[in-house]
Amino acid sequence: MNQLHRNDWNQWWRSAAIYQVYPRSFSDSNGDGIGDLGGVLEKIDYLEQLNIDAVWFSPFYPSPQHDTGYDVADYLDINPEYGNLQTFDKVLAELHARGIKVIIDVVPNHSSWEHPLFKQALAAQPGDSARDMYMFRKSSDGAPNNWGSMFGGSAWSKVEPLSGKASDRDWWYLHIFDASQPDFNWENPKVHEFFRSYLRFWLDRGVDGFRVDVAHGLVKDPALPDDLVGPDRLNYEGPNSENGRALDVGPFFNQPGVHDIYREWRQVLDEYGRDRMLVAEAWVNTPEQEAMYVREDEMSQAFNFSVVNCPWEPGALRKVIRRTQEASASVGAPATWVLSNHDTVRHSTRLGYPTGANTDNGIGVTDPQPDREIGLTRALSATAFLAGLPGSIYLYNGEELGLPEATTLPDDARQDPTWKRSGYRVRGRDGCRVPLPWSNNPSSNFGFSPARASSPWLPQPADWGELSAQVQESNPYSPLNFYRKMLATRRSLGLGMGKSTWLDSDPEVLSLLVTASCGRKVIVATNLAVGYRPLPQLALSKGTKVLLQTPTIISEDAAPSVEDSGIGPGQTLWIEI
Ligand code: GLC
Ligand code: CA
Repeated sequence: MNQLHRNDWNQWWRSAAIYQVYPRSFSDSNGDGIGDLGGVLEKIDYLEQLNIDAVWFSPFYPSPQHDTGYDVADYLDINPEYGNLQTFDKVLAELHARGIKVIIDVVPNHSSWEHPLFKQALAAQPGDSARDMYMFRKSSDGAPNNWGSMFGGSAWSKVEPLSGKASDRDWWYLHIFDASQPDFNWENPKVHEFFRSYLRFWLDRGVDGFRVDVAHGLVKDPALPDDLVGPDRLNYEGPNSENGRALDVGPFFNQPGVHDIYREWRQVLDEYGRDRMLVAEAWVNTPEQEAMYVREDEMSQAFNFSVVNCPWEPGALRKVIRRTQEASASVGAPATWVLSNHDTVRHSTRLGYPTGANTDNGIGVTDPQPDREIGLTRALSATAFLAGLPGSIYLYNGEELGLPEATTLPDDARQDPTWKRSGYRVRGRDGCRVPLPWSNNPSSNFGFSPARASSPWLPQPADWGELSAQVQESNPYSPLNFYRKMLATRRSLGLGMGKSTWLDSDPEVLSLLVTASCGRKVIVATNLAVGYRPLPQLALSKGTKVLLQTPTIISEDAAPSVEDSGIGPGQTLWIEI
């Protein structure tokens, strides 16, 4: 049991392609316009044919949905809108039967204000031990400190309106996110105990791992000092800011004590075997800080968000990719590659803007709109580049359809709490959460629901059906068929378990030689120039076989097709030598 979890290089998660299912938006089996686990059961064949190795489910627990399930009212059950524990067991069994692992989302920084522990805390008197599960503080002179919520406005709210007790007049509770998401007090051993038993509950059911929400946020500086930013984190220019908002830096992020929690969790997981994994959502500023979360007695891996934040620019991309590889290698962890998730603008849209455009606040109908064709071409290219490299890759549901962000959602349909909390300035993340199109039939919400269903919980754009899985199925050049082929090739060669060396001599072309675990050698190259470029020298000298290629960007600047062996603008190639 005390063996370290690192010593088996064949652990599945080291090289897995992991597909994120956002339950509310994936597939609706009963026609209420809300995705559910029955909907997932209907798509098991689809998931298998995609050639993914694991599914990560965003939260499916009972929740009042003030933050689409990241406000958990019961950690040991399933949201009745989505099904029940038996439905979950079925999903788990079906996926396991196809060789697909299952990761679930644990939300340990905060619960919902509807969680019984918070309700008990409110019912108790100030100073009672029930209150010690959360972060209550007394202050008669405004909020206890100047901390701002990640969703805008103060991170403190008054207790009295919730408890109805006059004795609470000067009491406040902390919520780093929405007021409906009170932060747990991780200095209390009972909180530790609560989450250890949570982990065991789901491990006993058979899950293969956990994605840890806000892994960098659980522990706060105990002195609760004022921070540099103050209460308007979404509108801040100064040290540790980017694009007019504060980065995840301050007395409530990345405190040394968080690492003790993951050491404790690792021990719980080790009771079940070293194949059970933990992946951190830790928004920290450097790959080196991120690597701390995956030291050998902590988590298995951490999302690497540096590529998400990186512009389509060869120098910048080369730098973040190299740094990621070096930092993860230094602690013996695999690299993780991420381009999209439920918190970011979909990468096919992000990459359709000129370099330097700021899409962090979400996109609305009055904002400049992206170039869809360039965005999609670059998105496929970026995905194919990262999928060719050693490490694991996280994919967000819908990206295999090349789905763009919904950039023209009506503002009154928005549900993300940032929209309201920012005083209707920051549009937020709804645009990447619109229910998926499965067919071209509008009466079934484009196949998201059965026929004659209620409207989907977020409206779908009118052209959604043309992007649907059913339409793409019969087109050999569709993004869907491209993803299937890419992931099949990646898996059959063992590229994720390979070893890589940088080759590039052309500053505008990123290229690596990957020696796959099967021993075959593959050049993975992306051309970021506006015109065609020659293939890397090594490919020219050895004679080549193209295993995979993405489309090129056809623009006036691109030289008309040069030699066949060239690499097109915006194109990624996998070439066997
Ligand atoms: C994480 C989730 C995000 C959520 C927040 C609060 O960043 O990915 O969706 O809003 O945590 O739980
Ligand atoms: Ca439903």
